[in-house]
Amino acid sequence: MFERILLAVDGSAHALRAARVAGDLARAMNSKIVRIVVAYEGIPAYLGEPNLQFAIESRLKDAQEILQKAEETVGKTPAEIHTELIEGSPAEAIIEVARTRDSHVIVIGSRGMGTLTGLVLGSTSQKVVSHAPCPVLIVR
Ligand SMILES: Nc1ncnc2c1ncn2[C@@H]1O[C@H](COP(=O)(O)OP(=O)(O)OP(=O)(O)O)[C@@H](O)[C@H]1O
Ligand SMILES: [Mg+2]
Repeated sequence: MFERILLAVDGSAHALRAARVAGDLARAMNSKIVRIVVAYEGIPAYLGEPNLQFAIESRLKDAQEILQKAEETVGKTPAEIHTELIEGSPAEAIIEVARTRDSHVIVIGSRGMGTLTGLVLGSTSQKVVSHAPCPVLIVR
């Protein structure tokens, strides 16, 4: 069970808690793959060069750092760690990866980097739990 785990991270403390749980789950289940996904917003081409290039590079660098931190937090597991960096809407990206990679469970935080406090679930976790092709583990 849960051979292939999809962990979605956005650089928030919530997502790091999700990363810890994903690591524990992978160890407990002797999982084969933990796939860590970060989605980043596309950058409008009207920015023009050289700003466009600069913006793309800085987004990619931020995303790489988020992935690296998440990987460290998952810790040592019997699973292979795969990372994916995807441009687009986070919920759609997460659902698409879960579908194409045939993930057995999606692990996400209840909230993320959003600033609207008071909500129980952020919009990404709400959409993912509504449309996911597999079980979703929402970490508070
Ligand atoms: N860009 C992203 N890439 C990958 N995973 C993400 C991304 N954004 C959010 N997530 C995942 O979804 C979880 C919940 O984040 P969500 O975006 O729903 O909450 P929020 O940021 O507080 O609210 P909102 O984005 O609606 O303002 C995060 O902890 C993370 O696991
Ligand atoms: Mg968010």
